[in-house]
Amino acid sequence: MSVTVVVPTYNEGPNVAELVRRLAATLPDGSDVLFVDDSRDDTPQIISDVAARAPLPVRLIHRPEAVGGLSGAVVEGLRAAEAAGTDWVVVMDGDLQHPPELVPALVERGRASDADVVVASRYTGAGDAGGLDGRRRKLVSKVSGLLARSMFPVRLRNVTDPMTGFFALRTGRVDLDALRPRGFKILLEVLARTRLAVVEEPFVFGERYAGESKASFANGVRYVQQLWGLRFGRLSPFAVIGALGAVLNLLILWALQSAGVHYLPAVIASNGLTIVTNFLLQERFVFRDLRDGGSMGRRFVQSFAFNGTEAVIRTLLLWWIVEAAFPHPELVQAGLILVAFLVRFVFHAQVVYKPRRTAPALDEMPSLDTLRPVRPVRPEAEER
Ligand code: GDD
Ligand code: MN
Repeated sequence: MSVTVVVPTYNEGPNVAELVRRLAATLPDGSDVLFVDDSRDDTPQIISDVAARAPLPVRLIHRPEAVGGLSGAVVEGLRAAEAAGTDWVVVMDGDLQHPPELVPALVERGRASDADVVVASRYTGAGDAGGLDGRRRKLVSKVSGLLARSMFPVRLRNVTDPMTGFFALRTGRVDLDALRPRGFKILLEVLARTRLAVVEEPFVFGERYAGESKASFANGVRYVQQLWGLRFGRLSPFAVIGALGAVLNLLILWALQSAGVHYLPAVIASNGLTIVTNFLLQERFVFRDLRDGGSMGRRFVQSFAFNGTEAVIRTLLLWWIVEAAFPHPELVQAGLILVAFLVRFVFHAQVVYKPRRTAPALDEMPSLDTLRPVRPVRPEAEER
């Protein structure tokens, strides 16, 4: 079985020799390393020098233009590996934050489990994100991962770390032409666009060996664009229903008030009614494929309790912010509604309609879940 390790590099000269040394010491015979380089310094020269002395084949693609950045480079590497007929590709960073010694285990795991992708995860089992510098990066990584998983709850149901840059891929399973690489999150692009059997392997994200991170604010912006580009999964119908609900809410409020009802009971009634209509529309149009197994009553109670609590907290927050810090109720309300909308979406995707994890072969086939040998319980009770 042949393995190609694809390493995207951007000004990583001082890391190349050490990376190749450690890869050579751990990779099985028949493996090779492919650098896809967009450097603007002497990195390509260093790679060529290291390649000449290396005990295994080391190839270099230097791109005159960094089309698609890190993700574009990875796709270029996948293409080349596929053309060379390799069985497995392992993608890893060039700065030794991804331990080379884990590469054989990733491939072995994929082979043994018949998976298409083996994700090296910082957020499962003994995995750890320790090498991410700073609390802020750690938080951003967590939150962006949670958002991605909420948008693609089925595709990412077995993936705890969709933002990782370390994974093994069986060649030929992904239509490379269908990808729209941009920014740093190539794995997300692959997983969101393709039905794949995924397994995970924990790993400890280490410290950089030399140089510094190329992650930037622009990359964060690209990530958000990427999510939009992947059509925001369920978020857009969720948003449309939310907006319809807001209009309906005002209409009911207006109708009740014209009928002589006091504004307070009218607000409570219109809020309650629109929470119910929102719930019914979401059941039907947003989460239809995720309703399997559980009872509608349970989902309704969760949804109603969350939305009610959220409305109360939002009102208190509004009052507090306006009184204490920022005397512009409309702006504060607009900001709070936006945040509340995202939180509500994450809650519904992660709790109310959370898909069960599946065995790799059953991924994306929820109707087969019931075939799993489980304790003899009613299907409603099984999930929780
Ligand atoms: N060819 C190419 N072109 N390579 C690039 C480019 C580019 O435009 N930008 C970055 N790279 C390379 C770097 O040289 C390095 O080998 C790898 O991509 C990762 O870049 P880092 O600068 O080390 O990124 P990081 O450590 O901040 O982020 C890593 O961890 C994140 C997890 O939080 C990456 O693996 C991310 O993909 C990952 O999401
Ligand atoms: Mn890095």
